[in-house]
Amino acid sequence: MKTDLPHSFRRLEYSPPTYTLGQVALDIALDPAHTIVKSRLEVLPGPHHAADAPLILQGEELEFVSLRVNGEVHRQFELSPGFLKILALPDGGQKAFIVEIICACAPATNTSLMGLYVSNGNFFTQCEAEGFRKITYFLDRPDVMARYRVTLRAIEADYPVLLSNGNLIDTEKLPNGWHLATWEDPFPKPSYLFALVAGKLECLEETITTSSGATKLLQIWVEPADLKKTRHAMDSLIAAIHWDEKRFGLELDLERFMIVAVSDFNMGAMENKGLNIFNTKFILAQPETATDADFANIESVVAHEYFHNWTGNRVTCRDWFQLSLKEGLTVFRDQEFSADQMGSESGRAVRRIDDVRVLRQLQFPEDAGPMAHPIRPDEYEEINNFYTVTVYEKGAEVVRMYQTLLGVEGFRKGMDLYFQRHDGHAVTCDDFLAAMADANGRDLSRFKYWYSQSGTPKVHVAERYDASLQQYHLTLSQSCTPGDGQTLKNAFHIPLKMRLLTASNDQAEQLLELTQENQTWVFEGLAERPALSLNRGFSAPIQLKFAQSQDDLMHLFFADDDAFNRWESGQTLAMQLILDNHLPDSALIDAYRHILTDPDLDPAFKELALSLPAESYLYEQCVEVDPQHIHNARRAFRHAVASELRLEWAALYQQMQTPGPFSPDAVSAAKRALKNCALNMLLEADPLIWAPMAVNQYQTADNMTDRYGALAALVICGSKEAQACLKDFYTRFEGDTLVIDKWFALQASRPPVKGAQSTLEAVQQLRQHAAFKMNNPNRVRSVIHAYCLNNPASFHLADGSGYVFWAEAVLALNAVNPQIAARLARGLDRWRNFAQPFQSQMLAALQRVATSPGLSADVREVINKAIG
Ligand code: ARG
Ligand code: ZN
Repeated sequence: MKTDLPHSFRRLEYSPPTYTLGQVALDIALDPAHTIVKSRLEVLPGPHHAADAPLILQGEELEFVSLRVNGEVHRQFELSPGFLKILALPDGGQKAFIVEIICACAPATNTSLMGLYVSNGNFFTQCEAEGFRKITYFLDRPDVMARYRVTLRAIEADYPVLLSNGNLIDTEKLPNGWHLATWEDPFPKPSYLFALVAGKLECLEETITTSSGATKLLQIWVEPADLKKTRHAMDSLIAAIHWDEKRFGLELDLERFMIVAVSDFNMGAMENKGLNIFNTKFILAQPETATDADFANIESVVAHEYFHNWTGNRVTCRDWFQLSLKEGLTVFRDQEFSADQMGSESGRAVRRIDDVRVLRQLQFPEDAGPMAHPIRPDEYEEINNFYTVTVYEKGAEVVRMYQTLLGVEGFRKGMDLYFQRHDGHAVTCDDFLAAMADANGRDLSRFKYWYSQSGTPKVHVAERYDASLQQYHLTLSQSCTPGDGQTLKNAFHIPLKMRLLTASNDQAEQLLELTQENQTWVFEGLAERPALSLNRGFSAPIQLKFAQSQDDLMHLFFADDDAFNRWESGQTLAMQLILDNHLPDSALIDAYRHILTDPDLDPAFKELALSLPAESYLYEQCVEVDPQHIHNARRAFRHAVASELRLEWAALYQQMQTPGPFSPDAVSAAKRALKNCALNMLLEADPLIWAPMAVNQYQTADNMTDRYGALAALVICGSKEAQACLKDFYTRFEGDTLVIDKWFALQASRPPVKGAQSTLEAVQQLRQHAAFKMNNPNRVRSVIHAYCLNNPASFHLADGSGYVFWAEAVLALNAVNPQIAARLARGLDRWRNFAQPFQSQMLAALQRVATSPGLSADVREVINKAIG
């Protein structure tokens, strides 16, 4: 663990490497307690080489054994925490030379899950961003790309399967029950894309033919008992491969593509070349154990990692400040893939609404808080803290804006030029922008501010209709308050899709490009005052500041042909009422009724239209957040929507049943979503009548979506039947870790219920549960993160007890896994925006963590930035 003084890395301090690498040969003898790594590096002078420059390799938590240069034992070196500095190189380092290093590490006690570690008795690696330096001393930076040949040795009975990147070129039996496998990756790669896996695993395998007629082997490796849960991941992979050929002309470049699932993993998944490693949560699924949401997530994460093979691996990042170059682009690609997989226009719109909800609930607060950063950050202490919703989700919105400005074809031209210019290289966000601009002959110089300025831009709308001239005047002005002390001087280039809605329906959709602080457009020939539909499809990641009349909003909610804006107007109407502590008025109830009973509307859209804005999004609209007040106002509003529409909900609950055997398709999934939403509303309105129905659904369900849906509804409304069902659920699924995670998460996310045990007490008990494990990230997230980050009303308690729990958990996790701890540490970011007494209690908890000894660089950076 790094506990030295804070050090900031700065984007503008980038300099090219002094040395680079040609061939890399690794020989790794795997032993949980003491793994021995022999490396042979072909070192070349880099573009920035000066004579007699020392070779400085990174290395962490390694036991140094020996060093040779050009075959001779070399004694001129210095070892310091974090580095091996090799001096007195042959020819002053001006010609290629060979470095051979032997070192050792201890995978079994590596709980950070970075570098080489053991999970369930098998070996795995995670090297992005800087984990390779925990395996051996190395030039661990993404602009140093090398060709790897990797020999893995292990006891065959314990580790029958030995995998690494690329192609298998040799296997051998060795004395004493050991064996080896040698892998060679034909593509040069940065160290963060290295991977190895060893253990008792089995695979589902399939061969496919890609666009050029080549045959490819696809494998999904899991523990033997999980083999039956891999079909959906395989189908998702095949769909992603074909989609990337069709949409972007990108073909799989390896003979073999492997995915491995592991149950101890810090993130969702990792795109190591030819050997993706996944959190089991994003691979394993069967209808009985995974919800429709799980199935959709697997499809999108499998696609995301596969898409990285081109956007990330073939073209990679010059340095970690450019992370969004690969992540924003790859998220955009997986969003487009998932939208296409829905198979209908309304399905696409539903996916878009889902993506925007995530952005607004998670990224907008980040962009307004103490950790705000541009999608291309300028400074960091610990790079792991910058795998953020800003880099990923806002980064994807920025990529989407190119497509909006240039059109789908223009965007494709830009992508083609990007690969033509940069295949095999480590490049920057500026290179991506240049490819888009040059391929389309467009000046995108103003667009670059999306990379350098943080904060969510606000677009203020003023409209005026002149009946005598039949003119409509639209004035847009932009402003932006960044959260990170940047002073913003530059207007963004904001693409806004808009349409004027009129009775005669005679106005087409247009694209407005807002590039100045203030701009006015005049529209002619309008015989009546139109209703404005702006930022359609959420074409730009901005906040609209528009005092649109209730009438116009209501008109949009009934009639906007843009599904996103139709949904959005309903959200705005509800949000205004909730923030004013009002119940829905009869006009809004009628509009909801109209939506719920419209036979032509997609059930998935209905479900979204009736979902209220999240508490975290409501917080962003307030100057002084009173979390209990907001929760109660929102809950009362929801209760009114539930009870006033009880007949409609009851009818939907019947109509949305999907008789016959379970089918996972999008249409059936949408029906289940709406049906379970109806069940929740019915339990909210008339718990005594509907609890038995929920129990029945719980007991008779043939799939996890319905079983979990009923259970969640019972738990959330605090029904007395919940306990028995929870107990049944645990026994039924005791052997299935991922399902037990749901059991934990559901209880930790329960909102407050009058007269029942507080959620904090429940969470404290769950932490003592025999199945709770502090070193398993999924389990920790399902209890601690679910409670502290995802359950605002139960967490923000006026006596501060939620925050005391948080501080203790951050400190406990800090010692086990800094990355997981730092994520939790983000939980009090927005303390300055809260009303008293919450604000002071939050600050006290932050200070308690800040003054504790032994903080990791990860946690320290987050806490110090929060306190400011
Ligand atoms: N590149 C991975 C992805 O596809 C995430 C890896 C993040 N690793 C980390 N240590 N923060 O999104
Ligand atoms: Zn990614």
